[in-house]
Amino acid sequence: MTWQAVGIFDSGVGGLTVLREIAGALPQEDTIYFGDTARVPYGTKSPETVTRYAREITSFLVRRDIKLLVVACNTASAVALPTLKRLFSIPVVGVIEPGARRAVEVSRSGRIGVIGTAGTIRSSAYTRAIKRLDPSAEVLTKACPLFVPLAEEGWVDNQVARLTAQTYLQELIDAGIDTLVLGCTHYPLLKPLIAEVMGSGVILVDSAAETARTVAEILAQKQCLRPDSETGNHHYYVSDIPAGFIRVGNRFLGERLGDVYQVNLEDDEEEF
Ligand code: DGL
Repeated sequence: MTWQAVGIFDSGVGGLTVLREIAGALPQEDTIYFGDTARVPYGTKSPETVTRYAREITSFLVRRDIKLLVVACNTASAVALPTLKRLFSIPVVGVIEPGARRAVEVSRSGRIGVIGTAGTIRSSAYTRAIKRLDPSAEVLTKACPLFVPLAEEGWVDNQVARLTAQTYLQELIDAGIDTLVLGCTHYPLLKPLIAEVMGSGVILVDSAAETARTVAEILAQKQCLRPDSETGNHHYYVSDIPAGFIRVGNRFLGERLGDVYQVNLEDDEEEF
């Protein structure tokens, strides 16, 4: 398994924040990224629909012979992870569990906030994961859907973004949380602004960074890390025309994306 790539998928471009962390932690690994740009957003859709999309994409990546799957999308992790684990035999890593674990580790008061899409918050997946680790924790959640288009537009430090953050986050500030989980792929881009609005007493937990650590641990445990001397290649697939993905993706990844290919999942299934 050592030489196979790590598969990563998201509803669109946001999962590149997770890819960036994985490539940073494990620069020797090849990755195959799938962004479902034709069907984004997932955050507003039902668990059934998101689970069906997640199954189709996982089949696509498994046909490309990946050694481990990272569900970078918080919404898909929140609703589809048990199904994917049941249906596929490769290790499947979501972003919820690593983020929850880190939040419990760093919180002193046990009052933990979680922000995410409407779908993620409605699922209560973070609340359940945190309470499994610390039953006495108090979890306060808030859906912040407008952060997604703001991050994609690059509006991460202007008056509109600041007012939006203040409006969404005030109730978490009032509740006196000491830790806030950024439970959405897009939120790391707004991290400086969210930190400023929350104030210095609140620790921000970035699920993307924690997930990269989990991936490294699992691959090391299974002894299928590529040698440090290798340099990984990164391949990108999207389900709509690549132009928008490339434009926004360069910003999310913090560097230029390599080649991006458009695929039709139905055609791909027939070919294999
Ligand atoms: N990737 C999604 C998430 O992390 C955000 C964008 C969407 O709604 O699809 O939940």
